[in-house]
Amino acid sequence: MKQDNQIVEYHLTASAFNWEIKPGKIISAWGFNNQVPGPVLKAKKGDTLVVHVQNNLPEPTMVHWHGIRLPATMDGTGEVQQPILPGESFEYRFIVPDAGTFWYHSHQNETVQMERGMYGGIVIEDDTDPVLDEEKVLVLDDMQLNASNEFTQHGVVGRWIERHDGREGSTNLINGKEYVQLYMHAGQKERWRIINAASARYFKLSLEGRPFKIIATDGGLLEEARTATELLITPGERFDIVAGPFEEGEVFAIQSLPYNRVTMLKAKKQQYARVQVMDKKPSIAVLPSKLAVINRLAPQDAPVTRKVKLSVDPSLKHVIDFRVNKKMHGMDAPVMVDDLQVWEVANTSLMDHPFHLHGFFFQVLEENGQAPAYSAWKDTYNLTPRSVLKIAWMPDNRPGMWMYHCHIIEHHAAGMMANFEVVDPLKPSSGKKETISRCHP
Ligand code: C2O
Ligand code: CU
Repeated sequence: MKQDNQIVEYHLTASAFNWEIKPGKIISAWGFNNQVPGPVLKAKKGDTLVVHVQNNLPEPTMVHWHGIRLPATMDGTGEVQQPILPGESFEYRFIVPDAGTFWYHSHQNETVQMERGMYGGIVIEDDTDPVLDEEKVLVLDDMQLNASNEFTQHGVVGRWIERHDGREGSTNLINGKEYVQLYMHAGQKERWRIINAASARYFKLSLEGRPFKIIATDGGLLEEARTATELLITPGERFDIVAGPFEEGEVFAIQSLPYNRVTMLKAKKQQYARVQVMDKKPSIAVLPSKLAVINRLAPQDAPVTRKVKLSVDPSLKHVIDFRVNKKMHGMDAPVMVDDLQVWEVANTSLMDHPFHLHGFFFQVLEENGQAPAYSAWKDTYNLTPRSVLKIAWMPDNRPGMWMYHCHIIEHHAAGMMANFEVVDPLKPSSGKKETISRCHP
């Protein structure tokens, strides 16, 4: 019997507080409810999530619900709401129409607010989810701290590298803790919902070579589980994996293997957590061979309706500029409700960029002329240097202002983003013209 949809309410208070990332190592974090990450918000598919956000920070903020197909007015960007001023609050209210792993994060002064810890996981469950023995939500992040564990920026050269590469640091966190200790039982299979909340870190997951199964990504379950030993998770992306079964006494690290995204600083292998396998317990896990059905939105050769070009160009003022269709913080043409979108997103630069579309899931039709290895609903997808992605997505009836951007937060801040309006042809458009969503350096 299907349970009736519920109203699920949460209170999130944004503030500054001290946070211990490992014994004796204390940072002055910014976050929700005095914890990094903020609490995991849980609901069932179809529920209404009501989140009261109280801002006790010394500056304005806004919260974006990354991956949730909500109305434009609830998207938490400067295009659709006034920032929540210090001392004020805002009530976000929306239905959660899809099961999966999502996340929330500040969408104001992100290079500071997100870096300091303003993010958290969202888990939307459904009765059709596979049954696993346990579940872990693993929110990945890295911080760049100085010797006194402060977030200060590191000189002219450091700032230049940070603008180019995005801010990466060697303090690696899972759920706000440095080199955290995790436990699981031998003989069991767990669902790990992995969220990359880092500003710029490309996380290439490895369980020291142990195979795992990938079962879901940004928009929910894949059609079938895929076995892997490595998995690239770029900023903003989510993947759910099944880990185990392991043997009693096994100990291994959750690590990130080097991924060369053409940065100035060289990628290194990084340790994120240590997993200790405890005594054996019986397993009730059932992973069906067919997890979901993903209907194709369009054939691979569908005609392109729009071209989006991500570029990094020489600039007099900043040495390099991060742009979309030659503009920084630009405005793209509107799209009509129910008008299938087939976009060719090209990365002409010599570095990687994770492309994120707000509010809608897309399917990759083609990457550099090749159909993808499997179907998936995505809202964030990495573009390697000089690559071309062909994606399809459907603007359903949620008119308003939306955006897409590079999810390397420093690139986004530097201009690699654009707004666009979804227009209901039966209703007049807001007529909003070119707007700049933030002040940038
Ligand atoms: Cu996580 Cu504008 O995005
Ligand atoms: Cu980028």
